[in-house]
This record gives sequence, structure tokens and C-alpha cells, in this order.
Amino acid sequence: MTLDRKESSNRFFNQLRESVDFIQKKTQHKPRIGLVLGSGLGSLADLIENPTHIPYTDIPHFFGTSIEGHAGKMVLGTLSSIPIVCLQGRFHYYEGYSMAQVVFPTRVLCALGIHTLLLTNAAGGINTRYRPGDLMIINDHLNLMGDNPLKGPNLEELGPRFPDLSEAYFKEGVAALKQSAEELKITHHLGVYAGLIGPTYETPAEVRMMRTLGADAVGMSTVPESIAANHLGVRVAGVSCITNLAAGLSPQKLSHQEVIDTSKAAGSSLTQLLSKVIPMLDSSANSA
Ligand code: HPA
Repeated sequence: MTLDRKESSNRFFNQLRESVDFIQKKTQHKPRIGLVLGSGLGSLADLIENPTHIPYTDIPHFFGTSIEGHAGKMVLGTLSSIPIVCLQGRFHYYEGYSMAQVVFPTRVLCALGIHTLLLTNAAGGINTRYRPGDLMIINDHLNLMGDNPLKGPNLEELGPRFPDLSEAYFKEGVAALKQSAEELKITHHLGVYAGLIGPTYETPAEVRMMRTLGADAVGMSTVPESIAANHLGVRVAGVSCITNLAAGLSPQKLSHQEVIDTSKAAGSSLTQLLSKVIPMLDSSANSA
């Protein structure tokens, strides 16, 4: 995406440019991969070398995060020697933000020059083979949010009016994640992520409906970010940490605390997986 001056009359481009200029003044790093860390998965950011930490509340047009398990800061640095930018916490539609606000940080990462976006999240397992603590490599999604971040006039400078999503999670990314998980002997699955707006967890009937529709896991994020990055021509890969069995599949009631506790426990396998896959994703972009 270019942020050249010809679009300066556009409020959205001005906001994007202000955020990007602010971040670039704070750091020398020129990130090639973006990473979004979901609920309870923030510890990976501690492994970033030579880090620049920027609280969201300092970045123009960002917001603070209100959700426990989301730190609310951007970290730039290197992981496995690759320059990355990491969002430790994200904005959710259920917090009351518009879709455009939810994907603003995604667009900022893309405008910083990343070629690949790695999305992580906590999700409930719909597929009955899944167990809490397993990882699911996302190979497709169902947008069940009833909204879309691209609704409204299309900004041609960002991407096409009708973007193709036939590889919303790019094939090489899925293959690299699978190969890495196999080599690391991490329990993993390939599956379809269903995005709902929340904030309620689902009813058992909704979980049965989603299984019929082809979903393997369900959560309240990721889909808008994937759409916005694909619109910008940035490759997207995603990993869900299965934190619980979806409603109706276990006698236990669902709680955010369980989600946080399980994702923290699974955090080390996710960290290993991402540290291994990041150089692979970077070299596949260089050879593309
Ligand atoms: N449903 C929706 N979102 C979630 C879940 C769930 O079961 N677990 C973690 N995030």
C-alpha cells in the first residue's frame, strides 16, 4: 500500500499516515511479518529481540484494550532474526468498535510494509476430535459476524471492490505451519474457523449449526483482520489455540478465565511453532 500525498484529502489515509509516521519515528525496525497475539497468547512478545514497545494509548487513532488477557501494546523487533511487528492484544467488534476500527491496526501493520500477517486467537473446539490445548491451523473461515470491514465505499488505493478470498489463508502458509508442527511434534489440526461477534459464548444449538456448516472451531475475532489484510494483498496465516470444548460438548460451563488459563498453558507450543515458521514464511515471500 502506498501512502503518498495524493490521497491527503482523505481522512482515513491521513489517520493511517499519522499512525505509521508515529511508529516509524519510534523505531528503526522495518517489519516484514506482522503477528497478532490473541487472548492469553501475549507471552510470545517477550521473546522479541531488540524490542521497541509502544502502548496502544500512545499511537494516534488506536484505542486502549479493555479485555483481560490483552496487554494493549505494539512490539517491534526481531524473532528468529526476522524483523516483525507484533500486536499484543486486539480490538473486538463486541467491544463496540465499528468494523473499520477493528481492522485499523491490521491496516497499520500492512502500511508498515509487512508481506505476511500471522493471526492467532483463542477458540472453542467444535470438532469432537479437538481437545483443549490443541492448536488448529486455520485453512479457511466462515464469516458469521453479519458485517464486513469492507462495507461502504471502496478505497481503490487499498484494494479491489470485490476481493477474491479463495485463499484467505494462503496455501504455503498452511503447509509451512503444518510441516513445522509435525517437526516439533505439536498436537495440531487443520480446520475452519467460524467468527461470531460475541460477546456471549454460543448456545449448544448454535454449535450444532456451525458443525453442520463445516466449522471446526469458533471465536470472536480474526475474520475481519483476515479480510482487511487480504484486501490489501497481504498474505494471511492463522492459528487457533483450542482453549475449551464449544458449548454443549462438555458438562462444564464456559468462562473467560478458562480460556485465558488454557491459552497461557498452550502458549509455549504456539511460541515454538511461530518461531520456527516465521523464517519459512519470510523466505517464501522473498522467493515469490
Ligand atoms: N466460543 C467463542 N469464542 C471463544 C470460545 C468459544 O467457545 N473459546 C475461546 N473463544
